[in-house]
Amino acid sequence: MSKPTDTSPWKAMIALPENVWHSIFRNPLPSSDLGRASTSFTNFFLHLHPVKVHRNSLRATFTFGLGLISFFLFFILVVTGILLMFYYVPSTSQAYDRMLDLRGTVAFGIFLRNMHRWSAHGMVAAVFLHMCRVFLTGSYKPPREFNWVLGVLLLLVTLFMSFTGYLLPWDQLAFWAITVGTSIASYAPLVGKQVKFLLLGDATVGQEALLRFYVLHVAVLPAVLSMLVAIHFWRIRKDGGLSRPAEEDEPTAGVELVTAPAVVMATSPAAAAAAKPVLQRRQYGIQGLVRGPFTKIGNTPDRSVFSWPNLFMAELVVFLITVAGVLLVSLYFNAPLEEPVNIMHPPNPAKAPWYFLGLQEQVSYSAFWGGVGIPTIEVVLLLLVPYLDRKIAGVGRWFARERLLANSLFLTFVVINVILIVIGTFFRGPNWEFVSPW
Ligand code: HEM
Repeated sequence: MSKPTDTSPWKAMIALPENVWHSIFRNPLPSSDLGRASTSFTNFFLHLHPVKVHRNSLRATFTFGLGLISFFLFFILVVTGILLMFYYVPSTSQAYDRMLDLRGTVAFGIFLRNMHRWSAHGMVAAVFLHMCRVFLTGSYKPPREFNWVLGVLLLLVTLFMSFTGYLLPWDQLAFWAITVGTSIASYAPLVGKQVKFLLLGDATVGQEALLRFYVLHVAVLPAVLSMLVAIHFWRIRKDGGLSRPAEEDEPTAGVELVTAPAVVMATSPAAAAAAKPVLQRRQYGIQGLVRGPFTKIGNTPDRSVFSWPNLFMAELVVFLITVAGVLLVSLYFNAPLEEPVNIMHPPNPAKAPWYFLGLQEQVSYSAFWGGVGIPTIEVVLLLLVPYLDRKIAGVGRWFARERLLANSLFLTFVVINVILIVIGTFFRGPNWEFVSPW
């Protein structure tokens, strides 16, 4: 690399690639602990991570990478969504034709649409499974209560994002799914009709609804989701990294057992001999506190490892697996596109998107309780979970015995919802009558 004082244009030309590289990446690949720490510090993206993480956070079987998978799917959705925006027009007279163009004339258009559609379904599933993992490992307990609340909001925004996107192709599937979905909203007492009108901008699904859903889908909801994700990630750091069993913080290697000097000095040699060994923990300066939770006084950094390369490589692997999965599915399965909208011919049955089919199934028993009452109670209970279950036991472990009751109740809730979705998807036919899928 030429020195900044070296003004010879020839030397500057020769050193150009190296100088450009070093102006962006200030550190060479690290080979020392100091280098590993500076690599995390000096790169904008890596800087969002702590310099060190606890080994427990890296165990694949603890998180299954589900939070990261949700995030990477959102990232793929943003990239493919922006590309789709170059072709899409939110107009009832053009939207469907634009879908046909994507299928027929735009290079890789169908592939782009497939990637967007399957990532959206994948994100709904991944966020839900991530919530299950957080619950079943007791990871919503203090100090992570508020991050759980943010998570519940993230789940709701994710569902709403997917729902608003469903209308955009303006085919029969989209039109009738949204007609069903928005009529569920109208069952809410007092405000139901107003909520439906606010969503549709009209009495029925039409141009106004398409425009509203488009703006919500491409601008409002992604902005809200990005903001919530940013706070969610920030809270993970401030809450001391991922949860782990209390025994993981018990000091072992790296913490010296010494005889307390104060005891030895204050009493006789006999008392000194009898003095119990105490733990002398490491002391840290203000920089240590800034760097993250693992270097705080009182914590034991022994089971932590440098984020470079351990965490970053793990994240890269999860990213590659997520991208590969989406590419593979998009290669073999095309996103559905049915006939253009025909308001005179509703399909029978008209079904909501799969993640709302449990709701639709409930509505078939009672419009109010199935569509509004029970879902509201479920969301409120989910939001209150960390404030109702205050016992700090079994945190950071899957299916801890101490959490048998809480886990059983949660699993019952999950199983009931999955069964309702399966019934709605496979066992309901014309007029919402029971049919056999076989
Ligand atoms: C867009 C949706 C979401 C994204 C992108 C996201 C992302 C993440 C990531 C990357 C992590 C750390 C690694 C991991 O656990 O896999 C995490 C942790 C966490 N998430 Fe989420 N999450 C989302 C939704 C949710 C939901 C729906 C909940 C619960 C209702 C939730 C609650 C939590 C909690 C409490 C933690 C800390 C867990 C611990 O300390 O072990 N998140 N999230």
